[in-house]
Amino acid sequence: MKSTPLLEVQDLKKWYATDGRFFSRGRQYVKAVDGVTFEVFDGEVLGLVGESGSGKSTIGQTVLRLTSASSGAIRFDGQDITSLPRRALRAVRERMQLIFQDPYASLNPRKSVQETLLAPLKIHRLKLTREERDARVAEALRVVGLRPEHAHRYPHEFSGGQRQRVVIARALMTRPKLLVADEPVSALDVSIQAQVINLLASLKQKLGLSILFISHDLAVVGHLSDRVAVMYLGRLVEIAPTAALFGQPRHPYTEALLSAIPEVDGATRRERIVLTGEVPSPRNPPSGCAFRTRCRYALPACAIETPQLRVVSPLHFKACIRDDLELQPATEQISTAKRTFAQEGEV
Ligand SMILES: Nc1ncnc2c1ncn2[C@@H]1O[C@H](COP(=O)(O)OP(=O)(O)O)[C@@H](O)[C@H]1O
Ligand code: SF4
Ligand SMILES: [Mg+2]
Repeated sequence: MKSTPLLEVQDLKKWYATDGRFFSRGRQYVKAVDGVTFEVFDGEVLGLVGESGSGKSTIGQTVLRLTSASSGAIRFDGQDITSLPRRALRAVRERMQLIFQDPYASLNPRKSVQETLLAPLKIHRLKLTREERDARVAEALRVVGLRPEHAHRYPHEFSGGQRQRVVIARALMTRPKLLVADEPVSALDVSIQAQVINLLASLKQKLGLSILFISHDLAVVGHLSDRVAVMYLGRLVEIAPTAALFGQPRHPYTEALLSAIPEVDGATRRERIVLTGEVPSPRNPPSGCAFRTRCRYALPACAIETPQLRVVSPLHFKACIRDDLELQPATEQISTAKRTFAQEGEV
């Protein structure tokens, strides 16, 4: 990992006016993302995890400028892209690509793989000769573990895992530096998830790609990420290198997510922390620490001020007022599974 941030997100906010009008009286906002700061370094995978509705997809969409930020700043490859006009954005988008959840929905059933892969070159108006275009198609298929003859097939001729490979190949056609992968394996069978995660790991290695890897599943995130950022109700509550987050979690919400990862067979049972109650609405979040309504360590002081992210050890940040807690780490089995999983299976 080099130390240049490829992506810098600074105090990002994305609020939606719930009545559709921003300036009316008594308006309410869904604070989907409410003051998030992080960076993704060159060649790094940053995992972004949190329950459904915590704002992960909104961050991905905002980073890619598919939706505009309410406030804050986004810098990509040294350039402030927060309010770049449409024309200038096209050149930036070439270098950042999105992969999302459902490979069925994201591929056109009437287009061959070849046509699908060539589409981004047209959108970005890349002037390549026919030979260069064909070479790129062949290269993209090879990198994702498909064969050259797959170029002439249609989506229905592939398995779910292969379809997600086609989606990834399409994202690589413009030779991006950053992939935003939003729940890229959530629609796949568990047996196929490992293959796709290993493929992403190999792309990071072979192509030096940076990946913002979004998932609601901390186990999945742990397999691939160099660092993990944990979100709760629109804010980051902890961010740390993966081994530190799994081995020495510092936020009660992270502890609960770790304890919910299913045990490997034969592992010693540990206490599972059940988060009671629904996730509060981001329209009306609790005062102070938004997690306090489900936190078993909450004190009256937690209702007063919203804890800010602060450093607890190098590269490890948490947003919790209590420093006296001994939190339960992931089990040894889960930490070991993480290492072996990444080596399993051919890509
Ligand atoms: N276009 C929108 N209008 C209003 N609210 C939205 C919109 N998009 C997302 N939200 C709300 O923002 C919150 C975060 O959503 P999202 O980013 O999709 O979360 P996640 O990806 O973590 O599940 C949710 O409460 C969601 O209902
Ligand atoms: S600030 Fe309080 S409520 Fe929030 S996570 Fe820490 S202990 Fe729990
Ligand atoms: Mg989402």
